[in-house]
Amino acid sequence: MKEGQPKAIYLKDYKVPPFLIEETNLHVDIHDDVTTVTTTLKVVKNSEAASEDQVHLVLDGSKDLATQSVAIDGRALTDNEYRVDDDELSVFEVPEQFELTTTIQIKPQDNTALEGLYKSGDMYCTQCEAEGFRNITWYLDRPDVMSKYTTTVVADKASYPILLSNGNDIDRGEEGDRHWVTWQDPFMKPAYLFALVAGDLQHIEDEFVTMSGRKVKLQIFTEPHNIDKVDYAMLSLKNSMKWDEEVYGREYDLDVFMIVAVESFNMGAMENKGLNIFNTSCVLAHPETTTDAAYQRVESVVGHEYFHNWSGNRVTCRDWFQLSLKEGFTVLRDQQFSADMGSPTVCRVNDVAVLRSAQFPEDAGPMAHAIRPDSFIEINNFYTATVYEKGAEVVGMIRTLLGPERFRVGTDLYFDRHDGQAVTTEDFVKAMEDANGVDFTQFRTWYRQAGTPVLDVTGAYDQSAKTFTLNVKQSCPATPGQDQKDPYHMPLKVGLLDEEGNDIRFPVLGLDVSSVDEASGFSAILNLTQAEQEFVFRGIESKPTPSLLRGFSAPVKLRYEYSREELRFLMSHDSDGFNRWEAGQRLALDVIQEIVGQIEAGEEVTVDEHLMAAFDANLTQALEGDKDPNLDKAMIAHMLVLPATSYLIEMSEVANVDAIHQAREAVRTAIAKKLSGLLLSVYKLNQKDVPYQAQAQQIAERALKNVALGYLMQPEDTEMVNLCVYQYESATNMTDRSAALRALVGSAAEAAQEPKEKALNDFYNRFQHEALVIDQWFAIQATCSLPGTLERVKALMDHDAFDIKVPNRMRGLVAQFAMNNIVNFHEASGGGYEFLADRVIELNGINPQMAARILSPLTRWRKYDEERQALMKEQLQRILEVEGISPDVYEIVTKSL
Ligand code: TRP
Ligand code: ZN
Repeated sequence: MKEGQPKAIYLKDYKVPPFLIEETNLHVDIHDDVTTVTTTLKVVKNSEAASEDQVHLVLDGSKDLATQSVAIDGRALTDNEYRVDDDELSVFEVPEQFELTTTIQIKPQDNTALEGLYKSGDMYCTQCEAEGFRNITWYLDRPDVMSKYTTTVVADKASYPILLSNGNDIDRGEEGDRHWVTWQDPFMKPAYLFALVAGDLQHIEDEFVTMSGRKVKLQIFTEPHNIDKVDYAMLSLKNSMKWDEEVYGREYDLDVFMIVAVESFNMGAMENKGLNIFNTSCVLAHPETTTDAAYQRVESVVGHEYFHNWSGNRVTCRDWFQLSLKEGFTVLRDQQFSADMGSPTVCRVNDVAVLRSAQFPEDAGPMAHAIRPDSFIEINNFYTATVYEKGAEVVGMIRTLLGPERFRVGTDLYFDRHDGQAVTTEDFVKAMEDANGVDFTQFRTWYRQAGTPVLDVTGAYDQSAKTFTLNVKQSCPATPGQDQKDPYHMPLKVGLLDEEGNDIRFPVLGLDVSSVDEASGFSAILNLTQAEQEFVFRGIESKPTPSLLRGFSAPVKLRYEYSREELRFLMSHDSDGFNRWEAGQRLALDVIQEIVGQIEAGEEVTVDEHLMAAFDANLTQALEGDKDPNLDKAMIAHMLVLPATSYLIEMSEVANVDAIHQAREAVRTAIAKKLSGLLLSVYKLNQKDVPYQAQAQQIAERALKNVALGYLMQPEDTEMVNLCVYQYESATNMTDRSAALRALVGSAAEAAQEPKEKALNDFYNRFQHEALVIDQWFAIQATCSLPGTLERVKALMDHDAFDIKVPNRMRGLVAQFAMNNIVNFHEASGGGYEFLADRVIELNGINPQMAARILSPLTRWRKYDEERQALMKEQLQRILEVEGISPDVYEIVTKSL
């Protein structure tokens, strides 16, 4: 590495902090031109640290801190008693314990990276995870340094009537045009959980009575024009609080819980102690502006951030390598919550779809890392699908292996044992072991090995012995820095179907089974531990059909040679709802892959009848309703969706983007043509004129209707275009309106061209003051798979409403194009790659975290043909040569070249 280039840090180099900060006192004086932060820290040497590291105190900061003064115990230090480097403050030869006071100046109004204190529109807010606090003041900005915070915020009274920070407001006052509020957080916390807000905000208020009878004040703050859109978040918050008491026995601990909605935010939301800060996209909801999917996201993110109060805040991370300790576990918790609030099977299907289309490619790419990485250059780059979603799968596997009751005994011990501490994933696993007397030595492989394991399974029935033998081989592909892989311990949930499609209640004696699940049939949870293993099921009277990896019991790729008949059989009979969907996906995948082959060979495209029959059956079921109680409308809607293009790409050796897209479209068109009558009936049956509610039955009906609309719009058909225009114009909710707009925009039909432009104009004019809807307006255009989209996207960059500095807007246009418009992004000229690289370079100087995030599609070059590989690498190379490349972008580019 060249000198001055960013350096990696390693988990193995972890050392306890040399100093501790018992108390933190912040005085934040906000003025339009400059904000002055005066910080007083009660510092002591850490008795567990080496004394040679305790001679000088070295604090984290950034070059944007303009240091005005440094004092110890009230005495201002002279120039030779401390040194300010770019991102470090060294205070020389400090005593055992002392009070350090620093005064710095910052300009939040210029902070476009949105880390630390910054402005979102007219309001001031903070984002401190992971290492943002160092942009606010000099500090030991690491999660294992926990402190008691008292914060005074001072600002202009008229412009910033609301001043918030963590904990309880203990004092306030005013002087002339200015006022101040002092907040005190009674809980020790790491700096990344600090938050501050100053703005002209309105709020709604409610109350929650905890299981021990304490009253908690709940407040949600927004800018005034959004105050009509926070009721659903409040409902979700109360549901979350109740759920965590019931399911995990966890009670809220402060007297107030606040959520603030901000427009400019790098991620979804942040669990700051007692003062969550949310991206507006994850908190605002209103029928006219918010889709069903967005409602569901609000519920899950509100839950997620709330659940962090225990899994993250009360028990926090020792260092950032442990990120999955809080994120994996909390994602599992929010997934369980959403499942309990709605349909568990639908939730599981969605979660697995996300894992497959976002995490599997990551695990197969140049940035592959274990859920507990062992090194990084920029921690912001590790807020990944692997740490979050695969992390949730890993904790979920512990739950599956133990069963829900023993898992709860484990989490109780974990929370009790480590309350108030900053701990590691190892501590989590240990608590699970100790609470249950089990040995998870081999299971720990999941925390250190990257890559998606593959299970190659075969089944053999022996008629005379009445045995069915499953042979399971597990392997894991090499990933950067990890050539050799050890076998994992994982739960393989298996059922066997008899000829009627009923579960066989086989004896588990002699099988290595961790538990049995009889909730909706009969499954055994097999302990997979070896590279190759055999499971012999006895007393099986006739040849069974195995239902493997039920509920997606492990985050793996399962290979089993199912015939198309067997898949059809599982689709209509499996007692495991997830595997019914999965059988349909396998069938569709198989058929689409066959068509890709036909296209590549220049043969005529034929769509297999098995798939047609499956869709016919699903649509018929949707019309007849209650015939099969295991297949509700929500599930049928999911079963009618073909595997995502990203997943199809992930499942091919060298992805032929055009052929994959063409094949998927061909299947859609064939279904639409052959089953148009059924589709139209399903559409009409589910077109209901009822006041909007974000409630399961309604959501399922809208989903079914809009999936049907998508198919109906596939062939050129003027009548369907008219139907779509009618839906667009008469819609009373955003789900229906945006689905119609999307279908129109995506239509190549001659009859759709004029209506589409008209609808786009109407949509814009109607919602121009609703930022989140305008994000959708950009996204719908950016994800259109028709030719010419790249030009349209480029033109939209010049639209008045486009602003690359606002992450939601940038994502709506740029990231949506690069990630969700696979054919156009990969157009053969390389224009899509060049466009993305230009945006990365532009964002590098504005918001490095976002620049690095949107770059990921370019890093997946290994999946494509040689021409595209060369074009993609050329753009990566061009990014690398940029003057002043940020560590964020540098890390992703160098690791992928
Ligand atoms: N802890 C947050 C969550 O998952 C993640 C987060 C929010 C974040 N904002 C961030 C991470 C900014 C890095 C940078 O709930
Ligand atoms: Zn989180």
